[in-house]
Amino acid sequence: MEVTERMKRLPGEGAIEVLAQAMALEAEGADIIHLEVGEPDFKTPPNVLEAGIRALKAGDTRYGPAPGIPELREAIAQDVSVRLGIEVKPEQVVVTPGGKAIAFFTFLALLEPGDEVIYTNPGFPVYEAMTGFIGAKGIPLRLLEERGFRFEVEDFLSKVSPKTRLIVINSPHNPTGSVLTKSDLEVVAEVAVERGLWILSDEVYNRIIYEGESLSIASLPGMQRRTIILDSFSKSYAMTGWRLGFGIMPPELASHIIRLVINSNSCTPPFIQRAGIEALKGPQEAVARMVAAFRERREVIVEGLNSIEGLRTVKPQGAFYVFPNIEGVGMGSGEFADYLLREAGVAILPGTAFGEYGEGFIRISYANSLDNIRKALDRISEAVARL
Ligand SMILES: Cc1ncc(COP(=O)(O)O)c(C=O)c1O
Repeated sequence: MEVTERMKRLPGEGAIEVLAQAMALEAEGADIIHLEVGEPDFKTPPNVLEAGIRALKAGDTRYGPAPGIPELREAIAQDVSVRLGIEVKPEQVVVTPGGKAIAFFTFLALLEPGDEVIYTNPGFPVYEAMTGFIGAKGIPLRLLEERGFRFEVEDFLSKVSPKTRLIVINSPHNPTGSVLTKSDLEVVAEVAVERGLWILSDEVYNRIIYEGESLSIASLPGMQRRTIILDSFSKSYAMTGWRLGFGIMPPELASHIIRLVINSNSCTPPFIQRAGIEALKGPQEAVARMVAAFRERREVIVEGLNSIEGLRTVKPQGAFYVFPNIEGVGMGSGEFADYLLREAGVAILPGTAFGEYGEGFIRISYANSLDNIRKALDRISEAVARL
């Protein structure tokens, strides 16, 4: 079938392909432990669920305003202002069906073909996909295991060129769990201010952090006017299937992004936004409990992986992923991921699903029960020993 050239440049997503393979094996009777999925295994908190149901029953089932209902935009602006110590106004908030849409719209609004975009590699694959789709040029910034999966400052500076228009950062980071330091952010901010660049700061894991604090580049001097914060309810409130995300941006840019909303999805379902208000304004204990559970699992999985010969893993500081180095097993990432799926019944993702510099690594999500994590560790250990 003939489609446009740009469609040919748009890939699918590695996680979805592995999930399909795992499900095909399950259909044949295999027992698979799923550590490939990037979503909390917790239920949406009951108060949030109830708020959504209440809104549905009250008839909140029509179109709403394109940028989001005023009460949610206000609640988000207030929450972000308090958390980041900056003043965010409701007109800077654009609510979308999931955070991914903010990435899509930002790329559409800010990039011309040929513009350069710097993004981390390994990194969330959507950024590379969108860059190709737009016809912009991706400049991968390598994250180094020996730096706890942060970038080298000199390397970053060498990637900036007169064609650079946008820098994408993501902290806490998918797939490595790394967290950028204040000085990392200052380096990026200095370049952005000096050269008048845009920053897309993906902060979807900002409440899932174990060490230090989650800082936003938008809170550095002069940065609010050149930063788009991408955030979401998906991970923080275990709401992946609700599709509720948002961007925080300068009001001048918001007016353009809103036209993209109008011409694509029209609005985010209002009853879902009501649940979002409850998530932000209601009790936060469920988030704390979820993060405490992730923290405990992190200890178990890091210790377990590091005790398997041929594997070593940096302790992640945020999100719910580990990114172990697998060079010692003598297989490439794709081959090893396939081996674990077929021979150990453990679904994980090859590091290369997150870019070329992911070779030699795999991504394991610990959004699964401690029992399953322990069982998966035993299976991986036995499968590696058989090699
Ligand atoms: C780094 C990162 N950004 C954005 C998203 C998108 O989240 P959502 O569209 O569910 O809000 C994800 C989801 O996996 C992610 O890992």
